[in-house]
Amino acid sequence: MTEQPQRIVIFASGRGSNAAAICAYFHAYDHINVAGIFTNKADAGVIEVANKFRVPHYVFNREEWRSPLFNIQNYIAEKVDLIVLAGFLWQVPDSFLQNHDAPVINIHPSLLPKYGGKGMYGMHVHEAVKAAGETETGITIHKVTTQYDEGPVLFQAKCAIAPTDDVDTIRKKVQGLEYIHFPKVIEFLLTALRIG
Ligand code: GAR
Repeated sequence: MTEQPQRIVIFASGRGSNAAAICAYFHAYDHINVAGIFTNKADAGVIEVANKFRVPHYVFNREEWRSPLFNIQNYIAEKVDLIVLAGFLWQVPDSFLQNHDAPVINIHPSLLPKYGGKGMYGMHVHEAVKAAGETETGITIHKVTTQYDEGPVLFQAKCAIAPTDDVDTIRKKVQGLEYIHFPKVIEFLLTALRIG
């Protein structure tokens, strides 16, 4: 009997460069699929990513998201193994976590608990890091709870900040770490889930 592939779904609100890195990484895999990309923005760049990689995408609004009935399995028939927030900016309601057996993970562009919480996303994070004169920053991949950027840390990676680095240079360094590590951490977690 052939084993079923493991399925990831991605939630993203913006450009979707992390979603693209994840889709590219698993493109040639038979045993791991990106089964869907969900977005809360009808004009998000991540929709182009979904089209490029021929992944079905689904746009939802705030009312649907907050509904206790919101369930990925209403959109995707096959069992989903891992839910990945990659630049997804809405807070996660408890009902979403209760409705899904699959773990939900998020990536954040700083070394949490530093520079996390409400309003801390994307460039706002890198601006705060620069303003504080930090000499290093990085990425955090963590399990999702109902609180912004909380939940157990699964993985962190660091990069140095030179005094001459501007905010955009910091962003590029951090996103470079994201593209390298996020797909590998996803693969590791799926392997761990497979062997129980
Ligand atoms: C990423 O850097 C991600 O870490 C960050 O948003 C960016 C999305 O970029 N997420 C957060 O700030 C969450 N608090 P992308 O759409 O190009 O992947």
